[in-house]
Amino acid sequence: MGDSTGAVPAVTGAMSAADRARFLEQGYLVVKQVVVPGDLERTRAAYEGLVDIQRELWAAEAGPDDPPGGAWDTEPQPRLNLTREPLDSRIPWEAAPAIDLWLGRAHEVSSALLGLDDAAVTEMMLMCNPRQDHGSAEWHRDMYPPIAAPLQGYTDDILENGPRYVQWNISLYEDDVLWVIPGSHVRLNTEEENAQLLADPLQQLPGAVQTHLDPGDGVVYILPILHWGSKYSARLRRCVHGGYSSLTSYRQPAAFENLPAASRAPWHRWAARASEAVTHTEAAFRAALAADPAAYRAALAKLTPGRGEKGERLTTVYLAKSARYLLAAKRPEAVTWYGDREPAYAADQHPTTLHWGAQMHERFGAEEAVALMQRFAPLQASLETDEPHFTPGFQGPAANHLFDRMPDLTLEQLYASWGSSEVSYVRN
Ligand SMILES: [Fe+2]
Repeated sequence: MGDSTGAVPAVTGAMSAADRARFLEQGYLVVKQVVVPGDLERTRAAYEGLVDIQRELWAAEAGPDDPPGGAWDTEPQPRLNLTREPLDSRIPWEAAPAIDLWLGRAHEVSSALLGLDDAAVTEMMLMCNPRQDHGSAEWHRDMYPPIAAPLQGYTDDILENGPRYVQWNISLYEDDVLWVIPGSHVRLNTEEENAQLLADPLQQLPGAVQTHLDPGDGVVYILPILHWGSKYSARLRRCVHGGYSSLTSYRQPAAFENLPAASRAPWHRWAARASEAVTHTEAAFRAALAADPAAYRAALAKLTPGRGEKGERLTTVYLAKSARYLLAAKRPEAVTWYGDREPAYAADQHPTTLHWGAQMHERFGAEEAVALMQRFAPLQASLETDEPHFTPGFQGPAANHLFDRMPDLTLEQLYASWGSSEVSYVRN
């Protein structure tokens, strides 16, 4: 049985200021009845209908050497993504309760925890049990510094401004798979954690707390909290998974057109907000190109309103990476990748870290992309290391990049560099 001694009390009624304070301090909260008992059966039925659709897709994708069910038969954690192709365009009218789950209590709680009027859903997924026992997953933080920012960038920003993103597991059946390390969302790994993660990332870490969800309950947590899928057994599991942020984007805003109007409306609202954020990001890039720190900071104030100096630092690291992916789209030969995972990530999008993918590619020419990367080159150089670096618990291998600490370079130094043209990012 799990150790619940360090667990914070679950939220049952309206969320209070004390609940939010506990959430910010511990990095997670269990919320009772995110799906109320009266809605549970139809929500389960809606998700099961989507499982059937996804299973057909997986069976059709199965190769000659695969079992007939494809991923359903082989994955340790078969996972549906309702916000991605090909499932997003196949969501039928009857699946509305599966979508509506994201528009009710979870939306209300997330907006309060993020300090927003209307938090936007980022992705909607469903994690299922495997056909056979697959044991436990590795302890990890849902991030990889070389493609976003060092961990300290996140922790400083959360301590100063609160989270930019909250993630949920909402279980349709009893579920105690997820464990977390309270407080690990605002600190680096301890020496003890690093030693154990290097020796065996599959074992329970000291201070870990198991979450216990009754049907309809949810656990909401702040990335980059250290967490663990403790057992992927064949026991029935249907765990709704995804998150909320101010920033999100959908590949196909028309994908939910089969749904009732009320289930569909928020996505149009959030898509319109995303278009504005892309425009603010473009404005920040154009200000950098114009070597105009005041205009750059004004664009950031619109893009990530109300965030302080630490927030400006993290946003600027995200924008340096975003500029790198823009350059990769325009001049692939100019970018040296940190590892195998990065090219696919660069070609995709990740709105919560201001990586807008193709939406940004069409706004800049190749020469502008080269000049823009030049602006962020001092920061990018300060994030890189001469020797490959590795800290356990992140979602990727060793790389020539800082994992834990933010670089020493200040924003003032970066902005001052815009007046000179000494640093060259594009290597020949
Ligand atoms: Fe995770």
